[in-house]
Amino acid sequence: MQSLAFSWHKQNQKISFVPTMGALHEGHLSLLREGRKTGDKLVLSIYVNPAQFAPTEDLAKYPRDTKGDLAKASDCRVDAVFFPSNEVMYPKGCQTYVEVANVTKGLCGASRPSHFRGVATVVLKLFNIVQPHVAIFGEKDYQQLITIQTMARDLNLPVEIKGMPTVREPDGLALSSRNAYLSKEERIAALSLSQSLKIAKEMAAAEKKDINEILESVKKAIEANGLTKTDYIKICDSETLEELTTLKSPARLLIAAFVGKTRLIDNCGI
Ligand code: PAJ
Repeated sequence: MQSLAFSWHKQNQKISFVPTMGALHEGHLSLLREGRKTGDKLVLSIYVNPAQFAPTEDLAKYPRDTKGDLAKASDCRVDAVFFPSNEVMYPKGCQTYVEVANVTKGLCGASRPSHFRGVATVVLKLFNIVQPHVAIFGEKDYQQLITIQTMARDLNLPVEIKGMPTVREPDGLALSSRNAYLSKEERIAALSLSQSLKIAKEMAAAEKKDINEILESVKKAIEANGLTKTDYIKICDSETLEELTTLKSPARLLIAAFVGKTRLIDNCGI
């Protein structure tokens, strides 16, 4: 993959890159379509990265669909799919990690302590292999997007990090590979996440600037649904992810909640 990338560089070809863990859905495909528009060559990676899963998390049962993924990649006119093994990504003796300090502390970083170290490390490794000019990430994983942008800035990476809006089901549920875990009842309960974002947006638009009042309404809307338990609901500065005590622009509402045993996240600008 790296020598192919170097040969494209020699031919002055602009490389777009979309890293994923596979089980591709319309959210991933929206990134690939953007990549197809912005680059001469489009690379997709599919790698379920063990370093970003805690021992108690769903690494073994994470959904996998290689055949379906390759068909979708072909439909999106991907030029190369990088599909490495664990031996290639983490050979014996691997001991170097990337730590992005501040933006990974709160939100998902608080309940998943080594998650973003695993994400930043694998993404930097993938960048070094794929040598992209542009890499495209979804706002669905907002803290991840900010973490990668911060890493790229701090380490002078020669790559532009582009964020794309969250793709949703017609009823509002954000597309996620983890939606596959939901039962019929849980699928209905999961809607409370996107619905509560809407409530917050409406309150902010109506000049209700009391953050606690907004957070309280969001919590109520989520927990009214018996199958849902919140992990966090926070309003943060959109760039630094510092928690806000008074509403000011640009702000982002971020939510993580358990629907049954499945942990889902969602967020929006307010
Ligand atoms: P994965 O969860 O497969 O997501 C790959 C990319 O798709 C991420 O940038 C994510 O934000 C984006 N994405 C997921 N759901 C989306 C939706 N509904 N709308 C728009 N974009 C969406 O995120 C990862 O993999 C990994 O952490 C990775 C970056 C590949 C590193 O291992």
